[in-house]
Amino acid sequence: MNEPFAYDQVEYPSLIHPQMHPSRLAAIARLHGIRAAAPGSCRLLEVGCGDGLQLITLAMAYPESRFVGVDLSAKAIARGERMRESLGLANLQLVAADLMEWQPGPHPFDYVVAHGFYSWVPEPVRQRLLRLCDMHLGPRGIAYVSYNALPGSHLRRMLWEILQFHAGTDRDPATSVPRARECLDLLLLGMPDNTRYRTTLAGEIADLKARLNPQVLFHDDLAPINDPCTLDQFMRAAGSHGLAFVAEASYHEMSLYNAHPDARAMLEEVAQDDLVTKEQYLDFFTGRRFRQTILCRSAANPCPRADPAAIPELDLVTELAPAAGQPGTDGGMHFTRRSSGGLDTNDTVVQAMLIECGSRHPQALPVASLLEAARDSVASERTVAEDTQRAATFLLRAFQAGLVELHVDAPRFARHASERPAASRLARHQVEAGETQVISLRPSIVQLEDPVTCGLLLALDGTRDRDAILSFLHGHLARTGTSAPTGDGASLAEALEAGIDDALERVCALALVCEAPGDTAGPAG
Ligand SMILES: C[S@@+](CC[C@H](N)C(=O)[O-])C[C@H]1O[C@@H](n2cnc3c(N)ncnc32)[C@H](O)[C@@H]1O
Repeated sequence: MNEPFAYDQVEYPSLIHPQMHPSRLAAIARLHGIRAAAPGSCRLLEVGCGDGLQLITLAMAYPESRFVGVDLSAKAIARGERMRESLGLANLQLVAADLMEWQPGPHPFDYVVAHGFYSWVPEPVRQRLLRLCDMHLGPRGIAYVSYNALPGSHLRRMLWEILQFHAGTDRDPATSVPRARECLDLLLLGMPDNTRYRTTLAGEIADLKARLNPQVLFHDDLAPINDPCTLDQFMRAAGSHGLAFVAEASYHEMSLYNAHPDARAMLEEVAQDDLVTKEQYLDFFTGRRFRQTILCRSAANPCPRADPAAIPELDLVTELAPAAGQPGTDGGMHFTRRSSGGLDTNDTVVQAMLIECGSRHPQALPVASLLEAARDSVASERTVAEDTQRAATFLLRAFQAGLVELHVDAPRFARHASERPAASRLARHQVEAGETQVISLRPSIVQLEDPVTCGLLLALDGTRDRDAILSFLHGHLARTGTSAPTGDGASLAEALEAGIDDALERVCALALVCEAPGDTAGPAG
């Protein structure tokens, strides 16, 4: 009897991957001279889409676009199909099929994306994916393929091989996952102290032990097929299918600043002629172990250097905010963000753009309107062309440093709650299904911390005003038997009423509330 397909046997966690969102891919493609389709009017195929959660977020955000997902796991597709149906998404098609046999139809795609797929499938399936990009991408089409990269993955591969040996032929997750964990402990017990081998493996073991999700351990680390490759090998395979390197989706990882300062001049020189070779040396220096490569048709001739002239057409997202005590006496300002990192500028137009955009985080704002508003607010005396060039050069540097996001047609969501706010239908669907981790409209993963927020999302169906929201919430909390902290001996009803506006602002800030008709994406007037 045939063994069940591993992804039917053990469910892979339902995930989203913001770095493969077409709004980000399009921005990077445009920086490199390719006018990739705007997500709002595109055709996108995801290969190995699992239950299609990422596609569901896209189909909801871009109703005029068409999305197709294919996956060999009939169970994953059936789960996704149930979600798709209950959300009424007619612009999404989920197909349970083997990529080797599936025929995508006559219409070209603007995007083909495959995350967590390439390294875990047999060589013919890898070739098929690249051939499919060759055959079915439009002339300005963009592909995104992630894979385990060498040389960094050599270290992890040592562990994978040891775990495979210890598990033997056992592919039963109920026993192979505990055996893998046991093996990690055994290694720590058996490796003599103060050896180079122990020092090398101990870090890898700690990483794997921290991987709490047994499904991920089963699929990612105990998979019988897991073939990392170098960027050079990957690009040879892609090149043989008429595909060329555009950039990495985690764009800041291309920065020369990831290497030791003494190697930067050498990398710079190599990059003049050949971006892929520069990236390959960067991998040798940094030991990179995962890549998320953006490709296009070779005939599209991507520009190896990013062109700041593309930036005024893009949307900006940043959480940068002026550090305390700014500006300094010289007019310079230091901007920081909560998650670390920062930069300085004494350009008052750029300062005003960052202050406005940072205050609206996580909203995406068009660079062109931010620039116009900033020039007005500081009464800039420079020409429009000069300010545009300075701002674009600055933003490109900030993007290369990973301090800002750039998008085309970024997903929209409400900044403030309207009179009758509507929460994301997907998030509401997830709360109804009892989940406390939901997907925002950015999209991003949001952990809901308390029963009031869960209840609030259920209340926000777009028909209720504040009073109706409060009475729904009250009833919901009573029905589910949940108590909420009231403080100061206030009754629950009083506490809810006092806190409702703040609670609504919080769910808006988490990008969980849909934009109301008439909301605009420009800076505040
Ligand atoms: C590691 S999971 C990644 C899922 C999802 N892309 C993610 O990153 O969260 C790999 C997916 O590829 C699918 N897959 C493997 N071989 C396939 C094939 N020959 N045709 C279509 N899908 C396949 C599996 O069913 C599984 O859902």
